[in-house]
Amino acid sequence: MEERKGFGSNFGFLMAAVGSAVGLGNIWGFPNKMGANGGFTFLIIYLLLAACCGLIVMIGELALGRKTGKGAVGAYKILSKKFRWLGWLGILSAFLILFFYCALGGYCIKYVVLNVGNLFGAGFGSNGLNGAEVFGAFMGNQMEAVIYGLIFVLLTMLIVMGGVGGGIEKVCSVGMPALFIILLICIIRACTLPGAVDGLKYMFVPGWALEHGVIDKAPDLLTVLSTAGGQMFFSLSLGMGAMITYGSYLNKKENIEKNALLIVIMDTMVALMAGLCVIPGRFALDPTGKLGGPSLLFVTMQNVFDNMPLGSVFGILFYLLVVFAAISSSISLLEVIVAHFCDKAREKGKGDKRKAYSLIAAAAVGVGCILVCLDCLGGAGISPFNILGMNPENGLPMWSDCWLDFFDCISEGILMPLGALLMCLCIGWEIGPKVVDEEVTLEGQNFKLRGFFNICVKIITPLGMLLVLYGQIKDFFF
Ligand code: PHE
Repeated sequence: MEERKGFGSNFGFLMAAVGSAVGLGNIWGFPNKMGANGGFTFLIIYLLLAACCGLIVMIGELALGRKTGKGAVGAYKILSKKFRWLGWLGILSAFLILFFYCALGGYCIKYVVLNVGNLFGAGFGSNGLNGAEVFGAFMGNQMEAVIYGLIFVLLTMLIVMGGVGGGIEKVCSVGMPALFIILLICIIRACTLPGAVDGLKYMFVPGWALEHGVIDKAPDLLTVLSTAGGQMFFSLSLGMGAMITYGSYLNKKENIEKNALLIVIMDTMVALMAGLCVIPGRFALDPTGKLGGPSLLFVTMQNVFDNMPLGSVFGILFYLLVVFAAISSSISLLEVIVAHFCDKAREKGKGDKRKAYSLIAAAAVGVGCILVCLDCLGGAGISPFNILGMNPENGLPMWSDCWLDFFDCISEGILMPLGALLMCLCIGWEIGPKVVDEEVTLEGQNFKLRGFFNICVKIITPLGMLLVLYGQIKDFFF
C-alpha cells in the first residue's frame, strides 16, 4: 500500500493546526462577542471553557487521529461500535462551514483588490463611496461575488491538492508567521489612533458596553456561557474532525499534550490581538460602525481605512491578513473531506487519488458557495425560509434570514458542540480515556494533565457542552 505522507516537522504541524484555528472566527467573532458580553468577565469564562473543554477535546481529537492514522470517518470506525458513524457528522459540518467560509474568503480577496485600486487611484477602488455604499454595490453584483467566492475555492483546492506536507504545511509555515507580523503592524497602527482607548475599554472593562449604549441590555449568564462556548469550538476548529485529521498526519515522536496546549494558547492570543487591531479603529474612526459579522469587516473596517492616512496600504495589509487566516482554515476543512476519500482509495491499493478527490470535493463546495454568494447575505430574496415558504412571523423556528446564517447556525451552533459532546462520551464512557493516555505517552512522554483530562472528558466537558448546546438552541428558538 502506498505510504500515507504526513507533516515534515513539528513546526509545520503546529503552524497548520494554528492556521486552522486562527480564522474569520477570531477576527470578527471574538472581539465583538467579548465586548458585548461583559468584556473581562467573558474572557475569564472563555478561558475556563477553553481549559476544561477546548483543551480536552483538542487532546482527544489529536490522539484519536494519530492513534488510528485515519481521517475522522476512518478513526471512529476503527475505534468505536456505538459511534462508528460520528466521522460523517464531521464531513457534513466541513461542507456546511466551507459553503459560507469560502464566500466570505472571496469577499476578503475582493477587498484586497479594492484597496489596491485605492492605492493607485484606479477605477476598481472605492471611488469616493463610503464603506456601506461600496459593500452595498458589491452585494448588488451577484456575479462578482460568485467569481471571488470561486477564486477562493480554487485556491483552497490547489493547496489541498499539493498534499499535507507539500501544500498545507508549506503554505502555513510561511503564511502564519507572516500573518503574525502583519497583525502586529496593524495593532500598533490601530492602538495609536486618537480615541482608540475607548475600544480597549469596550473590550476589557466589564459593563462598559452597556453603560455607553453600545449594547442595550446586559446578557444573562447562560447567554454569555453559550456564546463563549460556541465561539470557542468554532475558533479552535473542534468537534468536526479537523484536528483528528491533522493529528493523523502527526509524527509518533511528537508531544500531543504540548502541541494541544500551544494551539489553544496561540489561538486565544491571536483572537485577543485581532481585537486590539479591529476594535480601536472602529471607536476612533467610525464610532457608529457595526462591531460584528460581515459588516464589521467589510463596512466598518473599510471606513476606518478610508479615514486614515495611508489607509489603502493598511487596508491591503489587513485584508491580506484576513485572506491568509481564512485560507489556512479552509484548507483544513477541505482536508477533512479529502483525507477520508484518499484513505479509502489507498486501502483499495489505488494510490491516494488526492488530486481527483480534491477536485470533486471542491466542486461540491463550489456549488454551496455559489448559493451563499448569490444570496448576497439575504439581500437577493432567495434565502432559506423564502425557498421553504416559511413565514418568519408565524412563530415557526427562525434562525436566520440568509443562507450564510443558516449554514453557520447548523454547523457552529449545533453540529460542532454536538460532535464534541459525542466524542467525549465515546472516549470517556465507551473506549475509555486509557486509549488517549496510551497515545499521548507513546514515546515515554509525561502526561501531566492525566488526572484533569480523565475527570473532564468523562464529566465536566460533556456537562459544559450540554449547557452550551442548550443555550444555543434556546437562543435560536426564543
Ligand atoms: N477555526 C476557524 C476560525 O476561527 C474556523 C474553522 C472551524 C476551521 C472548523 C476549521 C474547522 O475561523
